[in-house]
Amino acid sequence: MNLNPKRYTITAALPYTNGPVHIGHLAGVYVPADIYARYQRIQGKDVAFVCGSDEHGVPITLKAKKEGITPQQVVDKYHAIIKQSFQDFGISFDNYSRTSAKIHHETASHFFRELYESGKFIEEITEQLYDEEAGQFLADRFVIGTCPKCGFEESYGDQCENCGTSHNATDLINPKSAISGATPTLKETKHWFLPLDQYQNWLQEWIIKGHKKDWKTNVYGQCKSWIDDGLRPRAVTRDLDWGIPVPVEGAEGKVLYVWFDAPIGYISATKEWAKLKGKDWEPYWKSEDTKLLHFIGKDNIVFHCIIFPSMLKAEGSYVVPDNVPANEFLNLEGNKISTSKNWAVWLHEYLEEFPGQQDVLRYVLTANAPETKDNDFTWADFQARNNNELVAIFGNFINRVVVLTNKYYDGVVPKHSEFSEADLQTLKELQAYPDVIASSIERYRFREAQMELMNVARLGNKYLADEEPWKSIKTDEDRTKTVMYIALQIASALAVLSEPFLPFTSEKLKRILGHSQLDSEPIWNDITLNTELLPTGHTIGKGELLFSKIEDQQISKQLDKLQASKKANEAMNATVTPQKDTIQFDDFTKLDMRVGTIIEAEKMPKAKKLLILKVDTGIDVRTIVSGIAENFTPEEIIGKKVTVLVNLAPRALRGVDSEGMILMTETPEGNLVFVNPDTDGVNNGATIN
Ligand code: 2FM
Ligand code: ZN
Repeated sequence: MNLNPKRYTITAALPYTNGPVHIGHLAGVYVPADIYARYQRIQGKDVAFVCGSDEHGVPITLKAKKEGITPQQVVDKYHAIIKQSFQDFGISFDNYSRTSAKIHHETASHFFRELYESGKFIEEITEQLYDEEAGQFLADRFVIGTCPKCGFEESYGDQCENCGTSHNATDLINPKSAISGATPTLKETKHWFLPLDQYQNWLQEWIIKGHKKDWKTNVYGQCKSWIDDGLRPRAVTRDLDWGIPVPVEGAEGKVLYVWFDAPIGYISATKEWAKLKGKDWEPYWKSEDTKLLHFIGKDNIVFHCIIFPSMLKAEGSYVVPDNVPANEFLNLEGNKISTSKNWAVWLHEYLEEFPGQQDVLRYVLTANAPETKDNDFTWADFQARNNNELVAIFGNFINRVVVLTNKYYDGVVPKHSEFSEADLQTLKELQAYPDVIASSIERYRFREAQMELMNVARLGNKYLADEEPWKSIKTDEDRTKTVMYIALQIASALAVLSEPFLPFTSEKLKRILGHSQLDSEPIWNDITLNTELLPTGHTIGKGELLFSKIEDQQISKQLDKLQASKKANEAMNATVTPQKDTIQFDDFTKLDMRVGTIIEAEKMPKAKKLLILKVDTGIDVRTIVSGIAENFTPEEIIGKKVTVLVNLAPRALRGVDSEGMILMTETPEGNLVFVNPDTDGVNNGATIN
């Protein structure tokens, strides 16, 4: 751990530019990264907080195909929307770049060439999935099939969204082209591979022996499991026409793998920023006294902890990350956020419904951040946190202080007399908060940090409730002045301490309290060192509402919107999948389907979805691994007559050879059911034709 860094390079995952950003993105990556970056800047640290649009990769070309536009049109559209959303929510990037920028193409090409020329890649001809109908190779998300690890049937070629495993497209079971639906064939093609196996020992030293135990458990655990499983070479090029052309001879029609170029996007964004500022970018990436941090979601862990560091190590002159504070996922009203199902709260839409209330969303997402486990966003919780915390605690305290100061003293900070025990105790507690909050932020515990911030407002409310200046004003003017003086110091501390979390509120509150008119504006450490942030005689401004109550009907409107999405999805699912392309009788006769009986069933250890079955096919008794464990218990299916495809080439699933496939179908709710032949009087082994 870099304990006393000279500078901070803070990166936030580059969002794919195939759709707008939603609350899950904000909660998982951008708000925590922003809190951290803002906090370090407040501390006077040298910070480069960079991000940008991830504009290459298959999802973008798929979106373009679907919308009948070019990939460039897709990225231009969403880059603008995403950039605006980040700005609207106060995500204080020093630079928000994009991977289609010239500087990025140059930087990524240069990086590739450096590794190429120093012999860091393996060049190999391998068989890749090929769609004969579409006439193209199927990389990454162009192919969908069953995950070899968990049995999820809609895993992408590069990564399974269900279990997070990253794999090669050729590892998928029953792969299908996402372009034509066709079953791909295998075709030879040349690619360049980064031999991750050669970095295994170094990763072991750096992460495992280097005691990266201060990394979050989920991050350390994933790294350990990758390293323990043994690393294999990874292709860093693809047969695609969208991306950065592979900058070497004999690589026509090939581009850099999106996960090779995207993290280099952090470097390009830093370069672009440094150029604009007249700074040198290199220390931000190459100096040992730089603290490099990657803020990401959990699905990006392997890329940021294993692959990108290996790339940096291969190049040789870069530093590797000090920490990778990855978050888990945020769900919405009990269901996984899904772009395709429109089950999301889009940031640009939120702002239309709740204009000017960016901080409310920032607050709720941090209060409920998926730091150690997946969490759920509900509109009821959003309303409750706004009304019961921001309005009733923070807003109420500030409102009382500002209104009473204006009413009693025309807005002028009064002179205090001698402090009572309670005053001294309150001031002492206030002085402790900057360090408490800072310590939580430094340990990436943003929920905890924000809770402590609210405790400052609670301290203020309690102080006012105990001292009751609205009563003492009638009997003891001096005492009232002292109480209001202290309450004003707490208000001022809140303005400073809230800046990383609630930047818009902090700015407004500083304006109300007239911070910029002071000889020296109060800063974080002043609160600890000196309790007088607003001196006697300073004049504050008039009150303005910091937060306003959110009404029930605003919440019902949002819930109705989600219900409408659900109905639209159900209707869509109810529609029948269109008929596939015509096949010849000969194609059909290649399938050997038999009536069989499940005679044994047991759960596959450590796999949520898989059952290991023994099936009597009439020909033999064989093992079939089936992804049905979430729908059936082993006991309930023993003895069941099923339809078995018996001549499917065997595949190993989690080390167990699966010799065939049981035919299943799905209800509209997504439940699996067996395709049962009407088998009275039919023996196992009877052919189906
Ligand atoms: O998962 C994603 O959305 C990727 N676009 C993240 C890329 S992060 C990086 F390496 F640039
Ligand atoms: Zn999986």
